[in-house]
Amino acid sequence: MRTILVANPKGGSGKTTLSTNLAGYFANLGKRVMLADLDRQQSSAGWLARRPAVLPTIHGWSGGDSRKAIAELRPHWLIMDSPAGMHGDKLSNALKRAELVVVPVQPSAFDMAATRDFIELLRAEKSVRKEKSYVAMIGMRVDARTRAADDLELFLDSAGFPVLTFLRDTQAYVQAAGDGISLFDLTPGRVVRDMEQWKPLLDWLKE
Ligand SMILES: Nc1ncnc2c1ncn2[C@@H]1O[C@H](COP(=O)(O)OP(=O)(O)OP(=O)(O)O)[C@@H](O)[C@H]1O
Ligand SMILES: [Mg+2]
Repeated sequence: MRTILVANPKGGSGKTTLSTNLAGYFANLGKRVMLADLDRQQSSAGWLARRPAVLPTIHGWSGGDSRKAIAELRPHWLIMDSPAGMHGDKLSNALKRAELVVVPVQPSAFDMAATRDFIELLRAEKSVRKEKSYVAMIGMRVDARTRAADDLELFLDSAGFPVLTFLRDTQAYVQAAGDGISLFDLTPGRVVRDMEQWKPLLDWLKE
C-alpha cells in the first residue's frame, strides 16, 4: 500500500479537490483506493456519497479502526484528505503514516504566509528528514498570466521541496466536486489541458 497525505493548514487551499481527484485517478486505473477523510467537515466523504455507482469504486474511511479497514480492503493506494488547521500530534501522526505528502498552495499573499510556517514544520519533521516521507508542492487555481502566479512560483521554489505543477482555476473542478466525480471520470477530450497539468504530479507519485 502507498499512502498520500494531502495537507496544508490553510483553509480552502485545495486539499479536498486534490484528494478526490487523486482517488478518481487511481480508481480509473483499476486500483483499490481508500479515501480517508480526516476532516470533521467530511467534504470528501460527502463527495464520495454523491459519486455515481456506475463509476470506478472508491472506498471511504471517515472514522473507526483504520487498521482494520485497511486490513480488510488491502488498498493499493490510501489517500488522506486532512482538515484546515491540522497541527501538533495529529499532523505528526498523519505524516508518520504517509510516504508521500502533497501540499496545495493558492497564489495569494495570505495563502503563502500561512503555508510558510507549515513548510518549516515539514522540514523539521523526523519522517521528512529521514526521507521516509517525500513532500511536493502544487500550485492551485493558478492563472499563469498573473503577477500572483509569478509570486507563487518564486515562493514555492524557495520551499526546498519539488514543485510539481500548477493547476488552473476552472469550473471543471467545482462542477466535478458537486457531482461526486473527478476530472478522470470525464471524457479525456473535455479536460486535455488539465490532464497535461496533472501529468508531472502523477509521474512523481508513480516513481
Ligand atoms: N483548481 C481549481 N479551480 C477552481 N476551483 C477550485 C480549484 N481548486 C479548488 N477549487 C475550489 O476552491 C474551494 C476550496 O477547495 P477545497 O475544498 O478543495 O479546499 P480545502 O483545502 O479542502 O478546504 P478546507 O481547508 O476547508 O478543507 C472549493 O470550492 C473548490 O471547488
Ligand atoms: Mg477540505
